[in-house]
Amino acid sequence: MAKIPQRFIDDLLDRVDIVEVIDRRVKLRKTGKNFSACCPFHDEKTPSFSVNPDKQFFYCFGCGAGGNALGFLMDYERLEFPQAVESLAQTAGLEVPKEEGRPGEASRQDTQRPLFDQLEQATRFYEHGLRKHPDAKRAVKYLKSRGLSGEIAKAFRVGFAPPGWDNLIVAVGNSEEKQQLLMTTGMLVKNDKGRVYDRFRDRIIFPIVDARGRVIAFGGRVLGDDKPKYLNSPETPVFHKSRELYGLYQARKANRSLERIVVVEGYMDVIALAQHGINYAVATLGTATSEAHLDRLFRHVPEVIFCFDGDEAGRKAAFRGLEAALPVMQDGRQVRFLFLPEGEDPDSLVRAKGQGHLEHLFTQASPLDVFLFDQLEQGIDVTTLDGRARFSKVAAPYLQQLPEGVFKTLMYQALAERTGIDVDSLKRLQAPSERDSAAPEYTRRSNQDAVLSMNELASSATDRYSDLSRPEAFSDDYADIDGMEPGVSDSSADTPFIDAIDDSLTPTANNDIHKILGLLVLNPALAKNVAIDGLPAVDRRDLILLKEFLKQIQSDPDTTTAALLGFWYGTPEGQLLTELAGKEALDDDEGREALFAALMERLMKMQQNEELRTRIDYLKSRDYAELSGDEKRELITLTQKIRTLAGRS
Ligand code: UTP
Ligand code: MN
Repeated sequence: MAKIPQRFIDDLLDRVDIVEVIDRRVKLRKTGKNFSACCPFHDEKTPSFSVNPDKQFFYCFGCGAGGNALGFLMDYERLEFPQAVESLAQTAGLEVPKEEGRPGEASRQDTQRPLFDQLEQATRFYEHGLRKHPDAKRAVKYLKSRGLSGEIAKAFRVGFAPPGWDNLIVAVGNSEEKQQLLMTTGMLVKNDKGRVYDRFRDRIIFPIVDARGRVIAFGGRVLGDDKPKYLNSPETPVFHKSRELYGLYQARKANRSLERIVVVEGYMDVIALAQHGINYAVATLGTATSEAHLDRLFRHVPEVIFCFDGDEAGRKAAFRGLEAALPVMQDGRQVRFLFLPEGEDPDSLVRAKGQGHLEHLFTQASPLDVFLFDQLEQGIDVTTLDGRARFSKVAAPYLQQLPEGVFKTLMYQALAERTGIDVDSLKRLQAPSERDSAAPEYTRRSNQDAVLSMNELASSATDRYSDLSRPEAFSDDYADIDGMEPGVSDSSADTPFIDAIDDSLTPTANNDIHKILGLLVLNPALAKNVAIDGLPAVDRRDLILLKEFLKQIQSDPDTTTAALLGFWYGTPEGQLLTELAGKEALDDDEGREALFAALMERLMKMQQNEELRTRIDYLKSRDYAELSGDEKRELITLTQKIRTLAGRS
């Protein structure tokens, strides 16, 4: 295959103006330094699509689409990479040179489309299965017994995977290449003996679609009481559980404008609610609600209502949602919490009592402050002075995470009222150490994001790393074909279906590595003096990306934002970089270099810290009496060092 030389692509991107390229297809309006429009990639009434002429890239805050001029052409005109280059070259009056590349060396840009195509094929196969397969009657009967109409099944593209090990392989995997695609999309499973078989067998199939309606994954439910009840696609290059929401696409399609979205726990809840006229429910996909989820939801609606079971698990899930919401609670946004009576879920309740009843309940849901404070108060006797002091210590760190604004001020006032402690003192309170906390276990901040705050480094470095370096839990792929069907990955008794995967490519506000990446992609020159070897050796995708990214820039110091985004286009890494670039403040900022340096320094310390920790842990793991005098002294010195590194005295 002839490969287009990278030099030419860079040159081409330099010569064209993305504003012109896009404006010819979508009318742009000047807004400050940038241009904006209603996004051509999703339905919207207010413009969240923006084009940055300085850095030559576009980004949509609504659906996350973004990239350089070539990416835009590929997405907008549905072109493959070479055709997009050809088309852009024509407008620039350039001839595309060819260079012999190694055969089979596809560009990153070409890799995703076939995955989407194959997923679409699979979806059609399952849809067909529900109508035509000899066993379809059973499936249809089951769906009817759950109150689903054919119409709603169609709207959600519900399907049926017939019993048998290789129906899908036979139907849509009739070449080596297609099987590989099915494997990559998680539709097939390979057992220890190398045998390959369909992941979804004898299950009702719920396709999961992205913001543009493309199928990216599936959930499958057994028809009876077998275990596991639901099986979900694993993480794949096109499916990231921590970002996707089941039902969001349908909700947006069904409503011209949405005022609120209800977050429920399951696929069937979303569908049953839609069937009963509540067509604005979404579900996370066997994971906790993440900041990325909420960020997405708030781009569409000002109000999010969590509607969960009233049991302990439901409360835990809701509290996770609350934690994820805090950093994105800008003024004007609202989250509320509704807990259903024991044994009920939205599906059962809406079928028993109807739309009006549920919508009435929604209006009664608790506001954030009530749920937060009630949860934190548990186990603390707030009638005593001491209890109120402790309560304020537990609560203050949550409020600190709120973005500046009126809401934050009000929250502090509410806390002040509850505790009798004045707002200024509350603002000065530091997070208590884990031991001090009397609040329920799950109300402590999770370690999922590497929030490299100096104060935290020393106290929680160890937990953090054990968390970060855990292997990806794709246990499904190692299932034994003869044994029991693989369970949902990483389920534990108390917190079912919370995935232990590496989420580090999902943008969060409080992640230093993301912050650094965002600065770098817009200002590649910052990479100049970074010593890559000094970066921590921690196995997480954002850090690996950062290292590669730094190397890439250092080897081509004149590279541009557009070229970088183009290189990573079509990969999860590229999606992250695009989003970070889109969110980073675009104004030239005096303090940018200083900020970058400070962030890098903090990140470097993470490594030193880790090494110290390892040594300390080793020394501590031994019997103190058996340590030599030197080792004892070393332990003390190391402990002091780690304190200094963390900025404590
Ligand atoms: P629930 O067990 O509450 O089931 O799981 P449900 O939604 O009420 O299911 P129905 O009504 O019996 O059909 C809630 C969600 O948790 C995930 C699924 O996303 C499910 O919709 N889950 C559940 C799994 O991923 N695997 C399971 O085995 C069970
Ligand atoms: Mn249910």
